[in-house]
Amino acid sequence: MSQETALQLKGVTKYFGETAANDHVDLELKKGEILAVLGENGSGKTTLMNMISGIYFPDKGHIYVNGKEVSIGSPHDAFDLGIGMVHQHFKLINVMSALENIVLGMDPPEGGFSLQKARKSVMSLAHDYGFELDPNKKVYNMSVSEKQTVEIIKVLYRGADILILDEPTAVLTPQESDKLFNVLRSMKDHGHSIIIITHKLNEVLEISDRVTVLRKGKNAGTAATRDMTVDLLTEMMVGEKVDLDIWRTDPAEPRKRLKLKDLTVLNGEGLPALKDVSFEANSGEILGIAGISGSGQKELLETIAGLVSPESGAISFFSKDGDKEVDRKDVTLSFVPEDRLGMGLVASMNVPDNVMLRSYRDGKSRFVERKGPLETAKAIIKSLAVVIPDLSIRISSLSGGNVQKVLLGREISLSPDILLVAYPARGLDINSSFTIYNELNAQKQKGVCVICVIEDLDVLMQLTDRIVVLSGGKVSGIRDARTGTKEEIGLLMTSSEKKKAEGKDGK
Ligand SMILES: Nc1ncnc2c1ncn2[C@@H]1O[C@H](COP(=O)(O)OP(=O)(O)O)[C@@H](O)[C@H]1O
Ligand SMILES: [Mg+2]
Repeated sequence: MSQETALQLKGVTKYFGETAANDHVDLELKKGEILAVLGENGSGKTTLMNMISGIYFPDKGHIYVNGKEVSIGSPHDAFDLGIGMVHQHFKLINVMSALENIVLGMDPPEGGFSLQKARKSVMSLAHDYGFELDPNKKVYNMSVSEKQTVEIIKVLYRGADILILDEPTAVLTPQESDKLFNVLRSMKDHGHSIIIITHKLNEVLEISDRVTVLRKGKNAGTAATRDMTVDLLTEMMVGEKVDLDIWRTDPAEPRKRLKLKDLTVLNGEGLPALKDVSFEANSGEILGIAGISGSGQKELLETIAGLVSPESGAISFFSKDGDKEVDRKDVTLSFVPEDRLGMGLVASMNVPDNVMLRSYRDGKSRFVERKGPLETAKAIIKSLAVVIPDLSIRISSLSGGNVQKVLLGREISLSPDILLVAYPARGLDINSSFTIYNELNAQKQKGVCVICVIEDLDVLMQLTDRIVVLSGGKVSGIRDARTGTKEEIGLLMTSSEKKKAEGKDGK
């Protein structure tokens, strides 16, 4: 049986200034299927979906719904065409109940609106699709997953045939993701056509019928999911498997610098983000942390950095020669967090002032010492080839790659013993990426204990010495980066998901 097409895009193009966020994208969604749209950060997934749901209007291209060309000028137009989108950031009213949010803004039915009737039909809809819903619960009392449920029911209640979910699992625990997937399957059984955006490969394999991969704003290919593997999807996402040719030296006299023992850390919701994590990190080595996003990487770095206190377990630090346990205050620890402008730097300040943030205590009198930071800023700009029109501009007006270089440069200028880096080259072009890799290697050569969270497996295997793999907040394996294989690491990354599929490994 050949399936009919629910939605088709031809040559859809959208520019933001000079950059084409979407460049002549073709895409087809069949009736009653789940299509995954996969792509790295910034590959254009959200922008494309926003054009289908009436948030943006394409600069070029055509959109067809049920075979007819349409013009979608607003979210209302999209709804009229049976298209509903659940955004990454929810749009609910906090002081209202689930039910009130669901019915809010709908035209009253013939014979007038009755909240009792609405409640009945919302509840029977929830029941049909397998949602857990408390209609009276106020949004401000809801967990993220409950809010998402309300958003989805809201869209269904309006009669959407085509549902678009933008990274719905990014905010969910693995257990909640499982529940969501069951609901999606049930929606599919009811004849809905669904697009789910994700950058998690195992989710694509688990939930979708077909997958379209976006790479740098272009359609990099579409395939039947059953023909796909983690490796094939990775290749489609990152392009040809290239030997990156990253400079890597042997570890420089590695000595134990840091030891984690049975570390358990809770996240903001009070759920375990890390469970019984144990490993050692050495000086003169780059230790890579692998894992699908949200596996506890963020909490791991923040706990080592001392920003988060563990629920249980211990972190110990060791002297330079590795034989003596020392206090945290006796080691210099530098941290390049994921959230560069939020946590790492002050967006509205210029580069020298941002450098000074870390060194103001060095001032000799009651005056702040400005000359040092200025010199350091200049040195960072020179050595890391930061593109900056003039030293006085605020850091937020630099490109992402240059912001990252400044942050890494500042942290390195402190001569750390331990250097923690989250996603060192995320969003950077090739040249900037290599500048950063080379700098990390130089640190390793100097005897620094470097710990990096890296999402790109090719980079991970070619830059680091050892790899700790996190899966569901646990260490699922530790491998030598020179002898380990990508397949092996990939399997370790998804091991907790697999365990869950096979039975209970509940938290
Ligand atoms: N409102 C916007 N203004 C300017 N640039 C944008 C805007 N939205 C997205 N972009 C850019 O378009 C590209 C694609 O972004 P996006 O669609 O959000 O990617 P994804 O959802 O795959 O992470 C990125 O380079 C992003 O910086
Ligand atoms: Mg997005």
